[in-house]
Amino acid sequence: KTITWNPAMAEKGGYRHFMLKEIYEQPRAIADTLAGRIPDDQADVVLEGLGLSDAELQSFRKVFLVACGTSWHAALVGKFLIEKLARVPVEVDIASEFRYRDPIVDEGTLTILISQSGETADTLAALREAKGKQGKAVAICNVVDSSIARESDGVIYTHAGPEIGVASTKAFTTQLVAFILLALRLGRARKSLTDERLGSIIAALKTLPSKIQDTLAACEHMEEIARIYAQATDFLFLGRGNQYPIALEGALKLKEISYIHAEGYPAGEMKHGPIALIDDQLPVVVVATQNESFEKVFSNMEEVRARGGQVVVITDCADDGLKGKADVVLPIPSIADELMPVLTSIPLQLLAYHFAVLRGTDVDQPRNLAKSVTVE
Ligand code: G6P
Repeated sequence: KTITWNPAMAEKGGYRHFMLKEIYEQPRAIADTLAGRIPDDQADVVLEGLGLSDAELQSFRKVFLVACGTSWHAALVGKFLIEKLARVPVEVDIASEFRYRDPIVDEGTLTILISQSGETADTLAALREAKGKQGKAVAICNVVDSSIARESDGVIYTHAGPEIGVASTKAFTTQLVAFILLALRLGRARKSLTDERLGSIIAALKTLPSKIQDTLAACEHMEEIARIYAQATDFLFLGRGNQYPIALEGALKLKEISYIHAEGYPAGEMKHGPIALIDDQLPVVVVATQNESFEKVFSNMEEVRARGGQVVVITDCADDGLKGKADVVLPIPSIADELMPVLTSIPLQLLAYHFAVLRGTDVDQPRNLAKSVTVE
C-alpha cells in the first residue's frame, strides 16, 4: 500500500475546511485530469495507462461498472455516457454485491472498478472476482500505485490530487471526467461516434474548467439558501436521466456531513412512493437541466409544489419564467449535456457543506465514516 502524502502536511490553503478547499480546487483538478488526453486536433482521446487495444475495445459485449459509495454514483453516470456514446450494454453494481453473487463475467466482459483510494476492500475483491473469471478489468483511480491500480489490467488515473475531506468532492467530478474520456475512447474504437460528435464534446471538455469556475461563482449565495432550510429534518433530491445519480450524490453528501436525513430519487419514480412524504416541511431539491427530460422534470416539480413542498431548483435554464415556479431558483452555466452532471454536482456539494457548518458538525471528519474502508 502506498500513501504518498501525509494529511497533517496538507494545508487548508486559507479555507475553513479541507472539503471547501477541495470543492474550490475542482477547476484545477479537472484541468489536470484532462491534461495530455485531448490532443489539439480533437481527433481522439489518449488514455495511455488503459492498456486496451482498439481490437479489444471492439470485442467487449458487456461492461460492468463496480464501486462503493460516491464512486458508485460516478459509475451510474458512467453507464449513461458509455451506453450513449459507445453503444455497449453496461451494468452497474455495488462492489459488496458483485463480489458475492457469482457475476456472469467472461473474456467478452470489461469490468471497470472505480475507486478514489484504490484500497476499498469490497472493490478490490470485486476486481479479483472479475479477473478470476478471465475478464479484463481496468480501474478509474485517484491514488497512484494503490492496490486496485496495481492489480488492474489498466488504469485511468484521475488527477484530483490528495483528497482529505471524508466526503468526496473533487475525486467524484474527476471520475465523471474520466468516464467521459473513456466513453469517447470506446465510442471511437467501436465506430459508434462520428468525428463531428467527438469534436463537439472535446471542444466542450476544453471549456469545462472555466465553466466550473463560473458555477462556483453562481453558488456564492449558497449559505443563505442553506439558512432558509436550516431547520428541516428531511430532504428529497430529484433528477432524471444523467442527473438521477447526481440527485443520489446530493442526498448522500447531505447525510454524510450534516446528518440530515435525505433521499435521492429518479424524478419519474416520485409518484410511486415519495410523493406521500411531501408537505410544507419537506424541501425538495430538483436538478432540472435542459435536455430531453427537462419538461418532465418540470412537471414533477409542479406536482411537488401542488402538495405544498418547498422546491429548490438547480438549472441551466436562464428563463425568468422559472422564478415563479420554485421557491428558490439557482441558475448555473450550461454545457454539453454529457458534461452537465459535473456542473450540477457543485451546488449540491456546497449546499451540504453549508448545512453541515450551520449544524456545527465535524465537516472533514464526520462521525462513523472513514475516508477509505479497507476492511469488509
Ligand atoms: C468511503 C468514503 C466515501 C467513498 C467510499 C468509496 O465510504 O467515505 O467517500 O465514496 O468509501 O471509496 P473509494 O476510495 O473506493 O472511492
